[in-house]
Amino acid sequence: MKKIIALLITAVLILALASCSAGNTAGQTATNSDEAVTESASTKAPEATKSDDKTTTDNNDKDNSGKALVTYFSATGTTKGVAEQIADVTGADIYEITAAKPYTSEDLDYNDSNSRATKEQNDKAVRPEISGKKINTGDYDTIYIGFPIWWGEEPRIMDTFVESYDFSGKTVIPFCTSGSSPIDTAEDNLKANAGCGEWKDGKRFSAETTSKDIETWIKTL
Ligand SMILES: Cc1cc2nc3c(=O)[nH]c(=O)nc-3n(C[C@H](O)[C@H](O)[C@H](O)COP(=O)(O)O)c2cc1C
Repeated sequence: MKKIIALLITAVLILALASCSAGNTAGQTATNSDEAVTESASTKAPEATKSDDKTTTDNNDKDNSGKALVTYFSATGTTKGVAEQIADVTGADIYEITAAKPYTSEDLDYNDSNSRATKEQNDKAVRPEISGKKINTGDYDTIYIGFPIWWGEEPRIMDTFVESYDFSGKTVIPFCTSGSSPIDTAEDNLKANAGCGEWKDGKRFSAETTSKDIETWIKTL
């Protein structure tokens, strides 16, 4: 009898781990924007679904033959530039994470303790809404996740993003841009909030990053 109970518990645990974030609530709002996922020069445009139902956007059983997607959030264009260089070098598709309520320069004022960004960063539970088309993560094996560092961490919208998708079976590669702060804390937070995926060590880039720097980094992965 003890063996049967042990077998049943093991089976339940395996089923629970199969989809590590099925219990997460998706914070992303789907709209009909056709700009969200951009076809790279060497790959076919991915299918993006318009459903808010996380389970319908994920299909981890497909053979994706190493297809990669570069996702990024960028408030002032620096991370966008790096993301585009990564997509160029790797031939990956690219997807911009856009805030449903765009950030103004007042929102981004880190000298103002009452600015939107400062308040969001002071509250780990905040999940700013994402707008635009959802990704079909089932189309990809590798997902790059890029963002700026805000107050030493990931912008809270990145937590919305990682909690909106199931990364099980995916290689996840975080990268950031910042004035000087490292990626470490943001990387740990995102990995914990995503709850699954094979996370590679993250990489911080400066605003002066060149394609050569990107190529050198890609070779180390
Ligand atoms: C609200 C806010 C907070 C920031 N906090 C930091 C920080 O803690 N450390 C740092 O090195 N840079 C910080 N920065 C600078 C950005 O990380 C840097 O300029 C980044 O490259 C901007 O990327 P983006 O243009 O893609 O938005 C901050 C910028 C903003 C707007």
